[in-house]
Amino acid sequence: MKNNPFVSDRICHFFSPSKIILGVAAAEQVGNEAKSLGGQKVLIITDPGVARVGLVEKIQEALISEKLIVGIFDRVELEPPARVIDECADLVRKEGYDLVVGLGGGSSLDTAKGVSVVGTNEGKVLDYVGIDVVPNKGLPKILLPTTGGSGAEVTRVFAITDEIDKAKKVVYSNYNLADVAILDPLLTISLPPEVTAETGIDALAHAIESYVSVSSTPFSDILSIEAIRLISENLPVAYAKGENIEARSNMIFAAALAGLAWASGGLGAVHGLSYVLETEFNVGHAKASSIMLPHVMAFNKIGNLYKYGQIARVMGESIEGLSAYDAAEKSISAVKRLLWSVNISFRLTDYGGSKEFLPKLVEGGMKQARLFVPNPRNLTEEDVANIYLKALE
Ligand SMILES: [Fe+2]
Repeated sequence: MKNNPFVSDRICHFFSPSKIILGVAAAEQVGNEAKSLGGQKVLIITDPGVARVGLVEKIQEALISEKLIVGIFDRVELEPPARVIDECADLVRKEGYDLVVGLGGGSSLDTAKGVSVVGTNEGKVLDYVGIDVVPNKGLPKILLPTTGGSGAEVTRVFAITDEIDKAKKVVYSNYNLADVAILDPLLTISLPPEVTAETGIDALAHAIESYVSVSSTPFSDILSIEAIRLISENLPVAYAKGENIEARSNMIFAAALAGLAWASGGLGAVHGLSYVLETEFNVGHAKASSIMLPHVMAFNKIGNLYKYGQIARVMGESIEGLSAYDAAEKSISAVKRLLWSVNISFRLTDYGGSKEFLPKLVEGGMKQARLFVPNPRNLTEEDVANIYLKALE
């Protein structure tokens, strides 16, 4: 099958923030941007890790220099619980904040999106789970990623953990799009190699999943294939030499491209099968999708040999003269090599996995079957079990 999404009977949607600023020291513009949005009292929403490395002060100073009143909420938790979003939104309402600045990885940015929604709407964040059920525009928001990973700064969705149901839930709304996303590679310099690696591979998973998705669009195809190329070239350098500004710039750009791509092209079985790993093996989202990526690609490839061949090509593999099948195979070896080079194991046994976990993994994977819909190959329960068995080898 050729890559020709223009020949389609589908209507394509593309979503993006109103404004994206990219560049070294771009974060210094946060004060200007907040003022332009009419902000007077701004809350920076971040996590304790970001606060420790001194990034909050930089943002705070830029806001204060524009004579804005600034507060800090630095209690964001990973895979953000609804409880934390509601607590922060209560603070926003009580103290009268009129603009939020999300600073951090995907969890901080998702928390800021949730607080923006609950800050102007009634009730709790779990009231807005679903597609387009948020009634009113939230507080204006500026999002600044500190990882080259989630792409949350450019998407119209955020994920929350419902601690009572023990489930991950999502809120889709155009009101979740940032008023301004600021991509400053200097904010990612202090990211440790291990986090650089796993968030970078998560961004690669976003790009690959949206590229091969049956919901891919002409927009997402262009963005995702370029994101794959950039990540393949730059992630090893960003991992090996964190202060390399060119590699960091390309990674933060690539992660945003991948975010824009999956926001309109969709994800697939890599994400569908990785969520259960987060609870079973206590690994974060980025590590979980990194582990599942090559195993799902190996299963998926026959669903779109042409596109898997293109992934191999942009990752530097020579596919000339190869059959479509052999070219597609090369995309899997390219991804495995990238994982090895940034020291991420894709064997579940290295995370405490064994075949005894299989029933729980399959049950957890099947709960995310909604993500199998855009996947290029349909999955039965037996297929899901076989993919986990490969990961357990
Ligand atoms: Fe992801």
